[in-house]
Amino acid sequence: MGLFGNSNIGEPAIIDMKSVSIRYDNGPEILSDINLSLKRGSFHFLTGKSGAGKTSLLSLMYLAQKPSRGVLNVFGHNVNFTDRDSMAVLRRRIGVVFQDFRLIEHLSAFDNVALPLRVCGMNEKEIKKRVKELLSWVELDRHMFDKTSTLSGGEKQRIAIARAVINRPDILLADEPTGNVDNDIAKKLMKLFIELNKLGTTVVIATHSDKLITDFPYPRLHLNNGALRIYDAREGYVRGV
Ligand SMILES: Nc1ncnc2c1ncn2[C@@H]1O[C@H](COP(=O)(O)OP(=O)(O)O)[C@@H](O)[C@H]1O
Ligand SMILES: [Mg+2]
Repeated sequence: MGLFGNSNIGEPAIIDMKSVSIRYDNGPEILSDINLSLKRGSFHFLTGKSGAGKTSLLSLMYLAQKPSRGVLNVFGHNVNFTDRDSMAVLRRRIGVVFQDFRLIEHLSAFDNVALPLRVCGMNEKEIKKRVKELLSWVELDRHMFDKTSTLSGGEKQRIAIARAVINRPDILLADEPTGNVDNDIAKKLMKLFIELNKLGTTVVIATHSDKLITDFPYPRLHLNNGALRIYDAREGYVRGV
């Protein structure tokens, strides 16, 4: 405990939820009273069975929706008091791997991955260098200039991951990012996330894979019956109600 009784002073959470709830339309709350504080540079898995609310929780974090109740701060900004333009600026610092990829199917793998860099106005020479290097690392060199629509699910998943990490986001949110690839590639992708995390990126990965969770002992945000618990095998603790 520091002098001011709070060791977190000076280090605000990068994502902070206080009594956050989510509901769709007039339906019941699918997540209720979620309290969560993610430190900059942390790494978490997000687990829970299908329909538990993983994608919904991530969508709050990537600012696609606002809480129906409670307070959400991202990068220290309360989303309830942040206008659309400012939200768009914040979103650029968040890399997202969507469960359904959301690639532009008529563009090549290269052009999909180059997109975030072009939005930032980077010069084409530098873009070419970076995109080629990353696509080669995810073993897609052969398909770099193929139209995305002609590629397999696993290949699309790797393009989606490359696009999410290409401009070294402050936060990386990945929704089942290894669901369509074999074990060797899954491990390699995890290495990529870990490398990015070492560079300071805060990472949250939703997964169904028990293998991933046992192979990489990061703390786990677990959703069940609308509530969140946090497990950390290394420290042997469980938090949450
Ligand atoms: N856009 C939506 N409109 C209405 N209900 C939704 C919507 N998205 C998700 N849900 C519901 O919210 C619950 C949680 O879904 P989801 O967040 O996709 O869970 P998970 O990713 O863990 O499978 C489910 O009951 C789902 O049907
Ligand atoms: Mg989901």
